[in-house]
Amino acid sequence: MKKLTLIIVLLSSSLYASVIPLPQEMKMDDKAITQELKISGNQHYLVIKKIKTIPEIKISENGKWNFNIQIKKPLNHYPFFKTDESYELKVDEQMVTLSSQNEYGVLHGLETMRQLLIDFEGKLPKLSIKDHPRFPWRGLLIDVARQWVSVEVLKQQIDLMGKLKFNILHLHLSDDQAFRVESKIYPKLHKNNNDKKFYSQEEIQDLVAYALERGVRTVPEFDVPGHVSAMVAAYPEIATLKELSKPSENFGPHDSALNPIKEETFIFLEKLFSEMSTLFPDEYFHVGGDEVSGKQWLKDPEIQKYMIDNKIKNMVELQFIFTKRVEGIIKKINKKMLVWDEVLSEGKDINAAIQIWRGPKFAKMALARNNPIIMSYGFYLDLQLSTETHYNSDPVRDLSLNNPDLLWGGEACIWAERLNEKTLSMRIWPRAMAVAERLWSNKKVTDVRDFYDRQIGLARNFHLFETLIVDQILIEAPKMKVSAEVLGEFFSWIEPGKFYSQHRYRKWNTSTVQDQWVDILPSESLKETMFVWTFRDWQKTKSSEKLKLINDTFESLIALSESLKPLQGADFKEKDDLVSLAKDLGSLGRIGKEALTYLSSSDRPAPLWLMEMHTKLIMMGQIRGGMQPAPHALVVEVVSLVQQKYNLVLR
Ligand code: ACM
Repeated sequence: MKKLTLIIVLLSSSLYASVIPLPQEMKMDDKAITQELKISGNQHYLVIKKIKTIPEIKISENGKWNFNIQIKKPLNHYPFFKTDESYELKVDEQMVTLSSQNEYGVLHGLETMRQLLIDFEGKLPKLSIKDHPRFPWRGLLIDVARQWVSVEVLKQQIDLMGKLKFNILHLHLSDDQAFRVESKIYPKLHKNNNDKKFYSQEEIQDLVAYALERGVRTVPEFDVPGHVSAMVAAYPEIATLKELSKPSENFGPHDSALNPIKEETFIFLEKLFSEMSTLFPDEYFHVGGDEVSGKQWLKDPEIQKYMIDNKIKNMVELQFIFTKRVEGIIKKINKKMLVWDEVLSEGKDINAAIQIWRGPKFAKMALARNNPIIMSYGFYLDLQLSTETHYNSDPVRDLSLNNPDLLWGGEACIWAERLNEKTLSMRIWPRAMAVAERLWSNKKVTDVRDFYDRQIGLARNFHLFETLIVDQILIEAPKMKVSAEVLGEFFSWIEPGKFYSQHRYRKWNTSTVQDQWVDILPSESLKETMFVWTFRDWQKTKSSEKLKLINDTFESLIALSESLKPLQGADFKEKDDLVSLAKDLGSLGRIGKEALTYLSSSDRPAPLWLMEMHTKLIMMGQIRGGMQPAPHALVVEVVSLVQQKYNLVLR
């Protein structure tokens, strides 16, 4: 396995110590000095428990270095929004001092220590760190409705969240496809799931406690009045149209909606939310509100009459009235409400924080009405975009903030249409590390290359690259008549199609068997990412060394394509797609190499060159088996630079 390099070791190393998210203030020596530590100071149970989960921190009764933990005023209860998470870490010749306002700050400080100990091979240098988060809301949404995710796998995600200083686990617990929490009041909700999977109330309590010990608050979401096929299949009396008996197996928008004019609906929601609120001690409660189609409401004569009688102009207004009722319920159960941005209907006040997913326009709308916002636009991990894309998605981008307190932070989101329990983690990590740093570190920390450098180091240490595809390559390579190394190299230059392109080539539902290569292919080709950097460097410096590197990379793609020729004579699954992608990597290498020559010399292409390249590149950009050759975009760019240089016209 070690021999397969799906990632490249970066030659340069980070300017900073490899810590993610980067602390606000950090000074350090480069020489490690500490030995084993002996704990003194506050021995808060959460802190002692946490230290036991960090093997890098070596504690011994006879430790030479005092490890002085100072907690000014322990909270000793569930943390609130804006609980102080700051900490200070000092290492000098005698002592390691970790101090904070409360136990949650210490937890973050211990994670920083873990990463420094990894970086300095088990010791710490003399240092001084003063750290606090830029934003108080740093979340990860996991959609456990569309695909079942076991408690064990959720705990693995929580471990990583704690390591990276995320503080909110947003569980999307109900949707068209399932309702995932045991309800004792409305047991058909969880018993009616097609896959029979749900979390018992004990499991939820255990999960919430587990997250808390890692400094992570758990915020539940029960999506209403749309995304409710599972809810209304179980309890048709609250439905607008009583047409379902089982949750949906399909993805995409559904028309199911709660009945917004029946008292039963609100009695149901009050009882349900009240029960759920006892399982989730957090002060915040998410009630969804996204993608309500309104079609069922417009079809229902009673609802139509109600709208006419009450002068309700359209379904957006009707949803607003519904949400106002839910707002009352949330207040009654002593919670604070979170909603998706659809709930903002022009000019109407809602007492909720708004989670933004459709774009800055909706963030502006919320801010104009003094609603706090949580940014998820730019942080949708299921779109399979690069680390860089997420890293550059600063929540303040495109906003002018008169009142910065209204921007609470953000949440990375992983929607589960195209993953399963096995692939959840690789679709979240390591890319979510970019969101972790964006939400914690100073706004000025923007060097994305340095970030990748730290990310790759840490991801490796946290075993995030030991992905399923490596195992699959080792199994499949013999059948495919190429070596595992060559196959590994091939997949390191291939990416899944981006955005929602995966929808189109394959029929998807909850029981789609996910056994194709694309299902286990990492979302980002790091080789391509670094190749693009080399090209950018050459554009800036015109260095002949970089030019050679680019040329060599194009040649290596041609050579790789040659080494993959035996695929054509073998018999294996998805053969046509893989053979076609393998050929295209070679063609992209050839086109890239040729275009680079025109770009870097005074050789001018033949008259029909552009036309020919253009046609070929359109074909090569096509998605096959859900995948595309990663170097395609760069080759398109190089060709278009040649076009500009020689003023070529596409006929
Ligand atoms: C959403 O993506 N429908 C919130």
